[in-house]
Amino acid sequence: MKQNIYDNPVFFKEYVSLRDSGISYNDFVEQPAIKSLMPAIKGEYILDLGCGTGHFAKYCIDKGASKVIGVDISKNMIHRAMKDNEHNKIEYICMPIEELELPGQKFDLIISSLAIHYIENYSKLIARIRSLLKEGGELIFSTEHPIVTARKESDNWVRDDEGNRLHWALDNYQEEGKRAHNWYVDDVVIYHRTISTLMNTLLENGFIIDKVLEPQSIPAGLEKMPKIVNEGRRPSFIVIKSRKSNKCQSII
Ligand SMILES: C[S@@+](CC[C@H](N)C(=O)[O-])C[C@H]1O[C@@H](n2cnc3c(N)ncnc32)[C@H](O)[C@@H]1O
Repeated sequence: MKQNIYDNPVFFKEYVSLRDSGISYNDFVEQPAIKSLMPAIKGEYILDLGCGTGHFAKYCIDKGASKVIGVDISKNMIHRAMKDNEHNKIEYICMPIEELELPGQKFDLIISSLAIHYIENYSKLIARIRSLLKEGGELIFSTEHPIVTARKESDNWVRDDEGNRLHWALDNYQEEGKRAHNWYVDDVVIYHRTISTLMNTLLENGFIIDKVLEPQSIPAGLEKMPKIVNEGRRPSFIVIKSRKSNKCQSII
C-alpha cells in the first residue's frame, strides 16, 4: 500500500516550513553530500524520483542538464514545484514512482533524494531504474540510514535524567520491512532495509557501486543547528552513487 503523507495538510505545512527555514538536516547534511557526488551533467537527460517541490530538478538545470523529469506522488509537492517552475526544461509528473511508465525513454542520470525509504519493493524499483538508464548511466540516491530506519520507536536515543543523549539504541536491524513513526503526524510509513540489501540489490541488478557516503554536517550546520553534531555519533543518511554496467544477474 502506497502512502501519500505529503498530501496530509498538517504534515505538508510542517514539512514545507522546515524546508523553507533553510535550517534542516537536508540543508547541512544530505544535500551537500548528494551534490558532492554529482557528475558533470551538461546536456544530460535526468529523472528525479520523489522530486518534491523540485529544488533538485532546478539545481540540475542550473548545472546545465538539458531536461529533467520530476516524479512525485504528492499533488501538494508537485503543485508547489510547478508554481515555482520558471524552467521550461523541467516536466513534472504527479504519480507514484512504482507506477511510472516512460516507454522508450532512457536517462543519463537518475537521482532520488530521500524518497526511496518510502518505497516498499526496493528490488523491483532498482530493476525498473536499470531499465530506464542508458548504458553507463548513473543512479545517485540518498535514503535514511539503516541504523536509523531499524528503529521501531520514533526516537531511539537513550537519554539521561536531564535529557542528554547517552547513545543510540540499535535494535531490530535484521528485521526488514515497514516502520510507522510519528513525524509531525502519526503513522508515517517508511521501509527499513539493511546495508547489505541496499548494496547487494544494486550489484544483483548489474550496477557498479562507485561511492558510498555516510555524511556529517558541513561547518555551517554545526554553527546554525548545534544538535547536528550528533551526526558524528550516528549517521541519519546514506548516499550511494552507482552506474549501470552491461552485466546483470537478474532478468529484467
Ligand atoms: C523527503 S521528501 C524529498 C523531496 C525531494 N526529493 C527533496 O529532496 O526535496 C520525499 C518525497 O518523496 C515523495 N514520495 C514518497 N513516496 C512516493 C512514491 N511512492 N512515489 C513518488 N513519490 C513519493 C513524497 O511525496 C516527497 O515529496
